[in-house]
Amino acid sequence: MVAAGMLVVACGGGGGTAGAPQPTSAAGKRGLVLAEQSGCQACHTANGKNSTGPTWKDLAGSRIKLDGGKTVVANDSYLTRSIIAPKSQVVSGYAGIMPGNDLSEDQVADIVAYLNELSSLT
Ligand code: HEC
Repeated sequence: MVAAGMLVVACGGGGGTAGAPQPTSAAGKRGLVLAEQSGCQACHTANGKNSTGPTWKDLAGSRIKLDGGKTVVANDSYLTRSIIAPKSQVVSGYAGIMPGNDLSEDQVADIVAYLNELSSLT
C-alpha cells in the first residue's frame, strides 16, 4: 500500500522526528518543514541515531572529522556548505552519496537554524 506509506511520511512531524526536540523559532520551524518536504529524513534523524547519514542531533557546533583527516567545527558556514554542496566535504566514515537539492539560500538558512536549535535544546 503506497498510499499508507505516504501518509506516514506526511505525518513526519511525529514520525521521523519522534522523540526529538521540536524547534520553537519561526526559522527553525520552517527549517523542520523544509527538511521533511525535501526528504532529508530518509537519511538523517534528529534523535541521535545515525542512519544512512549522520544524525542531526547535537551536530551544530560539534567537531567533525572529514574524509581525508581534516577536522572542522560544524558552524553555520560548514552546515550551509554541507547542504548546498554535499560533496565538497564528506564526513569520515560515510559515503559521499548525499544528493543535491534545489533549496534556495533562505531555505538553507532556515534548515541551518533548525539544526542549531537541535543542538541548543535537549
Ligand atoms: C540519500 C541520503 C541522504 C539524503 C536524502 C540527505 N543526506 Fe545529508 N548526508 C548524507 C550522508 C551519507 C552524509 C555524510 C557524508 C557527507 O558528508 O556527504 C550527509 C551529510 C549531511 C550533513 C553534514 C553532517 C555532518 O555530520 O557533518 C548535513 C548538514 C546534511 N547532510 C544535511 C542534509 C539536508 C538538509 C538534506 C535534505 C535537503 C539531506 N542532508 C539529505 C546522506 C543524505
